[in-house]
Amino acid sequence: MSVPSAAAAAAAVAALLLPLLMAGADPSDESCLLNLRNSLEDPANSLRKWTKSTLASPCNGFTSYLVGVTCNNGRIYKLSLPARSLGGSISPFLSNCTNLQTLDLSSNSLTGPIPAELSSLLNLAILNFSSNHLSGQIPPQLSFCSYLNVIDLHSNDLSGPIPDQFGLLVRLSVFDVSYNRLEGPIPVLLSNRTGLPRFNASSFVGNKELYGYPLPPMRGRGLSVLAIVGIGLGSGMISLVLSFTAVCIWLRITEQNSATAGGVMNDDDGKISHAMPDY
Ligand SMILES: *[C@@H]1O[C@H](CO)[C@@H](O)[C@H](O)[C@H]1NC(C)=O
Ligand SMILES: *[C@@H]1O[C@H](CO)[C@@H](O)[C@H](O)[C@H]1NC(C)=O
Ligand SMILES: *[C@@H]1O[C@H](CO)[C@@H](O)[C@H](O)[C@H]1NC(C)=O
Ligand SMILES: *[C@@H]1O[C@H](CO)[C@@H](O)[C@H](O)[C@H]1NC(C)=O
Repeated sequence: MSVPSAAAAAAAVAALLLPLLMAGADPSDESCLLNLRNSLEDPANSLRKWTKSTLASPCNGFTSYLVGVTCNNGRIYKLSLPARSLGGSISPFLSNCTNLQTLDLSSNSLTGPIPAELSSLLNLAILNFSSNHLSGQIPPQLSFCSYLNVIDLHSNDLSGPIPDQFGLLVRLSVFDVSYNRLEGPIPVLLSNRTGLPRFNASSFVGNKELYGYPLPPMRGRGLSVLAIVGIGLGSGMISLVLSFTAVCIWLRITEQNSATAGGVMNDDDGKISHAMPDY
């Protein structure tokens, strides 16, 4: 009698545990990691355990044995793969990891753009893509992630402006876009909050075309000496061409007038032409 009841108890325990274990197999987390694995290059083989079968249930109950992945309640809430020599690009399907709070892919060799699709990661608090080779513009849609505390994009090849909308991220406590190729004015809401500097110059340095407080104003950096010389020469050429054209038109008109004016004008022409050889 005791053996069957022990078996029944074991079956009951298994029946209780099974849903917890199955909770790890979230289809959107699986799709998120599979797509990320495919978009990354992994020359150091850091992600050797990221296989199709292990990625099928990235969260084993409450934990994950996948490098870089941390789970909570069967969902991925942290993805942290700094300094693992990763190349390739950032998959837009990272947006499928909808419970993600921390995304750290810093200090790798990632290229390509920051996908605007990341804006659907509404729980995202920490975003660190620093020290890669990411290019293109910073997607303004990232401002939809209203829990963002940390945006660290320093030392990449990002271009274009700093989105004005980032000034509306009230929880932002760390913002670093230094050492990129960003341009344009620094959004006032990022630099000043009630007169006090919100983020100081160290957040913005190393972007040649970025200007405005807390960096120096545009005057003297927007227009280089070469540009001023260029504009001067250009406008000089244009006025030269314009006045030459004006003279040509004027000559044509007077020519036509003299051709239709008759004898008196011809007499004047004759006097002038006779006068010329005297010089
Ligand atoms: C992953 O994201 C894409 C694009 O947002 C969506 O079409 C797809 O249904 C998602 N897949 C899963 C399994 O959630
Ligand atoms: C982002 O990652 C880099 C390198 O991994 C680290 O040095 C830096 O402190 C991180 N940024 C933040 C704000 O934690
Ligand atoms: C920001 O605040 C500083 C110091 O309070 C002030 O000098 C500066 O003009 C302000 N800049 C902007 C763009 O409001
Ligand atoms: C700029 O701010 C950072 C962090 O907010 C701080 O560590 C650093 O000392 C500041 N730099 C200057 C020059 O004030």
